[in-house]
Amino acid sequence: MAQKRAFITGIAGQDAGHLAQLLHEKGYEVFGTLRGQLEASHPRYQAIKNEMPYVNIVLADLLDISALTRAMQEIKPDEVYNLGAISHVGYSFRDPLLTADLTAKGVLNVLEAIRLAGLEKTTRFYQASTSEMYGGLDYNRPEKGYTESSAFHPRSPYGVAKLYGYWITKNYRESYDMFAVSGILFNHEGERRGPEFVTRKISQAVAAIKLGKQDKIELGNLDAKRDWGYAGDYVEGMWRMLQQDTPDDYVLATGEAHSIREFTELAFKEIGIDISWQGEAENEVGVDQDGVVRVAINPEFYRPAEVDFLLGDPTRAENELGWQRKVDFPGLVKLMVEHDLTAKQ
Ligand code: NAP
Ligand code: GDD
Repeated sequence: MAQKRAFITGIAGQDAGHLAQLLHEKGYEVFGTLRGQLEASHPRYQAIKNEMPYVNIVLADLLDISALTRAMQEIKPDEVYNLGAISHVGYSFRDPLLTADLTAKGVLNVLEAIRLAGLEKTTRFYQASTSEMYGGLDYNRPEKGYTESSAFHPRSPYGVAKLYGYWITKNYRESYDMFAVSGILFNHEGERRGPEFVTRKISQAVAAIKLGKQDKIELGNLDAKRDWGYAGDYVEGMWRMLQQDTPDDYVLATGEAHSIREFTELAFKEIGIDISWQGEAENEVGVDQDGVVRVAINPEFYRPAEVDFLLGDPTRAENELGWQRKVDFPGLVKLMVEHDLTAKQ
């Protein structure tokens, strides 16, 4: 049988790295997009090639439908994973227009590129949808967690843009009979996570504090809760969604929610520091056993509208995809801190 071809947008991202490795191990020929006027000698290009020599790099911006269409015509992928996006919720408030162009309309660009290349009946499409679409407000919080049929109420330009991506994917499935699905993924983290996201910011800071390179970390809202899993587990679920007989959308989550505060405490425990909390609101600090301030609040990291609580119910993915997360919450914190301790030495 011919080798299957997978096309991943945003190959430099966290999930793309895990997914490319998984697909390579499964025997796929892997293609991934990088944006910018890069040549093979460029450090960003080289970094991907050094880490994942098996990835065929395609230069294409998600805003550039001609580049995407050309890529589809030339590669004729069996599976397309649309992971490229502005993915940082806080940043999306600062640049909402670009977020809409990229995180919303970029999805349509990829779907149209598939159709323009005449591949809509053969190429399977995965859209990286998100738990941010639920919004976490009190009135629509199911006790056991959000499911595929929960109501959406996005709270950021990012969440709103992702909702467009979710619906246009469903619309192309219904209109053109495409195998086009959304994975509604709750937060997933790990050693590839960007340092602008809170878990990696904490694990890197804790490692730097242990090594004497930093005194403390500044954070925003400590009391938001997230359903945090390991990214390596979640890419397996993405792949499984594209192997089904019929296309459908699935939630991937752990079924447990923890606060930023809990993540911070556990991360410090990994280096032998017990954090205790003093003060309130913007004046709250986390101090170590010797009274040294290790955590301070910086309101710069607050968001204009916050998602206070996210909890997912992965029952359907477990039953229908046979998907199961392997790494639990303490395991995730440990894995990230240990990785950063080694990397920072
Ligand atoms: P990530 O690390 O931020 O990766 C996103 C990638 O998109 C980056 O490599 C980025 O490239 C690329 N990109 C940005 N602008 C682009 C453009 N104009 N053209 C082409 N590519 C562009 O995100 P991730 O955590 O791996 O997440 C992957 C996808 O899943 C995203 O769509 C995210 O919104 C979604 N998602 C993530 C989670 C999560 O918890 N991680 C949960 C639910 C959904 P540069 O490196 O050039 O900036
Ligand atoms: N980034 C960041 N930095 N967040 C902070 C900080 C800080 O210093 N301090 C507190 N937080 C809080 C945020 O206010 C938010 O409530 C929570 O930590 C998580 O923030 P992020 O790690 O930036 O992730 P996110 O939940 O907003 O978004 C991620 O998960 C979504 C799925 O639910 C991203 O990966 C999105 O792309 C993804 O869709």
